[in-house]
Amino acid sequence: MKPIQVGLLGIGTVGSGTFNVLQRNQEEIRRRAGRGIEITMVADLNVERAREIVGDGVDVVADARQVIANPAIDIVIELIGGYGIARALVLEAIAAGKHVVTANKALLAVHGTEIFAAAREKGVIVAFEAAVAGGIPIIKALREGLTANSIQWVAGIINGTTNFILSEMRDKGLDFDVVLKEAQRLGYAEADPTFDIEGVDAAHKATLMSAIAFGVPVQFDKAHVEGITRLSAVDIRYAEQLGYRIKLLGIAKRQAAGIELRVHPTLVPSKRLIANVEGAMNAVMVQGDAVGTTLYYGKGAGSEPTASAVIADLVDITRLHTADPDHRVPHLAFQPDELHTTPILPIEQVRTAFYLRLRVADQKGVLSAITSILATSDISIDAVLQRESNDGEHQTDVIILTHETQEGVMRAALAQMQALETVLAPIVSLRKEELA
Ligand code: HSE
Repeated sequence: MKPIQVGLLGIGTVGSGTFNVLQRNQEEIRRRAGRGIEITMVADLNVERAREIVGDGVDVVADARQVIANPAIDIVIELIGGYGIARALVLEAIAAGKHVVTANKALLAVHGTEIFAAAREKGVIVAFEAAVAGGIPIIKALREGLTANSIQWVAGIINGTTNFILSEMRDKGLDFDVVLKEAQRLGYAEADPTFDIEGVDAAHKATLMSAIAFGVPVQFDKAHVEGITRLSAVDIRYAEQLGYRIKLLGIAKRQAAGIELRVHPTLVPSKRLIANVEGAMNAVMVQGDAVGTTLYYGKGAGSEPTASAVIADLVDITRLHTADPDHRVPHLAFQPDELHTTPILPIEQVRTAFYLRLRVADQKGVLSAITSILATSDISIDAVLQRESNDGEHQTDVIILTHETQEGVMRAALAQMQALETVLAPIVSLRKEELA
């Protein structure tokens, strides 16, 4: 049978990886897909560089719309990124009856509802394994492998840049700004790392996972997003002394009242496997009622790891594109008319345990004033650590771990503690998850 023809929009790091892996493994991929898969057309503004990558046998153009307009192209891979031109091109490709493969988490987390509806109307597939955790097949696992389960929660290290920075901060005892500069020098962090360090990239990915895990629409605007920019090396050290590591987690959790969707630095017990995921690696834990806890680990970015996910989608489409659209795996795992309107909970209703660091005057009654605020707020203390004050300093750090409470309750208690005259600096509060 004639190979399925693929048009590639954007041949940067992931695009060139996709081209190379498809070529290298073409025979095995054909045996799996039942048909060859060939990139026959590439659009990239840098036509010269694109030609160098793909050689003579591939049509290279500067205008992505020429790819979309080509009737011979069956599948369009979008690797441009962002919400701007990428959104227009994806919608145009769908309107032209092309199946789409994309690694664009930002686009789908924000405009997914519109894009999936357009795809459904046209009977085409929009596949996005590469959008979450790069080479880890977490979309496949959530959507198909765990389909028997009522998913309870998903929690992942889904941004390699921030995990690299946190690992370096812990290993070397350095502060955030110093490590960020080093990460940029080494090419681990982008020149503009805002989306990574502010947690936005992780929130895009968590949003996609929440939709697939719980059968709700993508709702990035409801996600609570905190990055790692305000994290201090001292809290990483104290957490370590108490048996925890701090990771930037993307969390989607089912509660009776709704769904928690949040990204923030999180204390995780050091003994958990996920706490030991270091450097730029990614890992996602999924808790299902039948399967229990599962863990998926691998490279969350990079040329060939991400290409691995892109090509898995190409193979899926090659196998499935002739199937009746109603009998394909739904984009968001649940049948589109079965999505629920379960609310995404405001952060005040989220339930977690907390780590608190208070800089206090070293004098009598200070600890009891703090603990009595917690007690009257119905917040139970799990552990307390107090460092000896240095000679002549007359102040010290008190570290408190609490049991689980509602965020709104903790915020009210924090305001009361902050108002104490003996609390000398802004209180640091971080959320803690046992992930048991
Ligand atoms: N910038 C992301 C990361 C990779 O650092 O993990 C692409 O989502």
